[in-house]
Amino acid sequence: MILELIKADITTIKADAIVNAANSSLLGGGGVDGAIHRKGGKEILKACIEIRNKQGKCKTGNAVITTAGNLPARYVIHTVGPVWNGESEKNNALLADCYRNSLALAIENGIKVIAFPNISTGIYHFPKNNAADIAIATVNNFAEKEKIEKVIFVCFDDENYELYLQKLNK
Ligand code: APR
Repeated sequence: MILELIKADITTIKADAIVNAANSSLLGGGGVDGAIHRKGGKEILKACIEIRNKQGKCKTGNAVITTAGNLPARYVIHTVGPVWNGESEKNNALLADCYRNSLALAIENGIKVIAFPNISTGIYHFPKNNAADIAIATVNNFAEKEKIEKVIFVCFDDENYELYLQKLNK
C-alpha cells in the first residue's frame, strides 16, 4: 500500500473513492462535506437520503458509501468524525474508526485508491497534530492493507499539510 500526500481540494481528486467528513445526518453541511455535495450534485444527496431511510443516522466512527455524482471519483465514502471535547481515549478511538471503517468499506467495494481529507480537524476542532498521528497510524496498521493499492492524504490547509509532510517524512 502506497501512501501519498497532496495539498488539494479533494473534490478534484480522481481516486476510486474520496472520503467525506460528514455529519450523522448525512444531509450535507459546510467544509469538505459542503464542497462534495455542491460539486458532486444531487445524486449524492439522493443516495444519502436512501441510506438514511434504510438505516437511520450514521453514527460517529461509522462509514457509508454512495456514488460520487459529478465528481471525478467513482465513490464517496461518508464517515462521521468525533467532535473534539477534550483529550480522551474515546475521541481518539472514534477517529481511528473513521479511517478503519472507510478502508474496510473500500475493500468491500473493490476500491483500490482512496483519498482521505483530514477528518474532524475543521469544524469539529480535533487537534491537527493528534488527528494526523491517528490517521497515519490507523492506515499503516490496517489489517488488510495489502488489499489497498494507494491511500492519498489530501490536505486543504497549510498546517495539516506541513504536519503530514513531517510525519510521513516525505
Ligand atoms: N478538500 C479537502 N479538504 C477540505 C476541503 C476540500 N474541499 N474543505 C475543507 N477541507 C478540510 C479542512 O481544512 C479540514 O482540514 O477538511 C478538514 C475537515 O474539516 P471539515 O470539513 O470542517 O470537517 P470536520 O472538522 O470533520 O467537521 C465535520 O463539518 O461540514 C460539516 O457536515 C459537516 O457537520 C460536519 C462537520
